[in-house]
Amino acid sequence: MHCGVNNTTEHFSLQAKSLKKSFVFGDSRLEVLRSVNLSLRKAESLSIQGDSGCGKSTLLNLLARLEQGDGGEIFWGNKMMEASQKQDAKQIAQRGTYLGVIYQAYYLIPELTVFQNVILPARLNGSLNQKKQERVIHLLQKMGVEKKANQIPPKLSGGERQRVAIARALINSPEVILADEPTGNLDEKTGGEVMDLLLQTCEEEKASLLLVTHNPKFAKATDRAAVLSDGELNLIV
Ligand SMILES: Nc1ncnc2c1ncn2[C@@H]1O[C@H](COP(=O)(O)OP(=O)(O)OP(=O)(O)O)[C@@H](O)[C@H]1O
Ligand SMILES: [Mg+2]
Repeated sequence: MHCGVNNTTEHFSLQAKSLKKSFVFGDSRLEVLRSVNLSLRKAESLSIQGDSGCGKSTLLNLLARLEQGDGGEIFWGNKMMEASQKQDAKQIAQRGTYLGVIYQAYYLIPELTVFQNVILPARLNGSLNQKKQERVIHLLQKMGVEKKANQIPPKLSGGERQRVAIARALINSPEVILADEPTGNLDEKTGGEVMDLLLQTCEEEKASLLLVTHNPKFAKATDRAAVLSDGELNLIV
């Protein structure tokens, strides 16, 4: 089943067609993704829920081309990639511009200041300039953590760290944000605040958002909601 209307004349930021992924250990084979189809329009948000171990993180890793699949196709905009093909250098370079990724555990670099963490993706793709430096401050202001710009992450709270990680994911104005349980380490209230900021900022920045969450309330806050089970993704809203 397709998660979204698959009209070929429409522009999608992110698509997956018949994505497959198994893990083999010894004699056994665990089929995690049997045939996942997904279509995400520009600036649209979609939540994915599913039991622990059903393959949500695996799906996001495949979509980001951080992991190879066994079959199927992935589209970043109009660019088609075979999921089973190893990514080439061009794709690795493109990832930093096309996608922003947010994880439950933040993954900020503890030795760098907040400002340096947020600007790092711009440094890595060679787009560091005065405008990008101003954008760091703009995003930190949006996230309400501009006063922490010169602080290092170990001195921030969990909620503050995730706000910084969201700013970092957005620095290169990506088409798509992939968020894997971004509020998983936060209490309900802080998680709610971070989620509101994430949804609001993605909308303002016109970035599509794929949100993996275990929280039904957050799953309802996106434009559409889907559940991953038995290796397939099905829309519930
Ligand atoms: N590299 C790997 N080698 C073998 N098995 C793996 C590997 N990565 C994931 N798996 C297995 O694939 C299944 C899906 O894992 P995944 O991390 O995608 O689940 P998830 O839906 O994100 O779960 P959670 O909600 O707990 O984060 C699990 O059974 C996991 O043990
Ligand atoms: Mg996971």
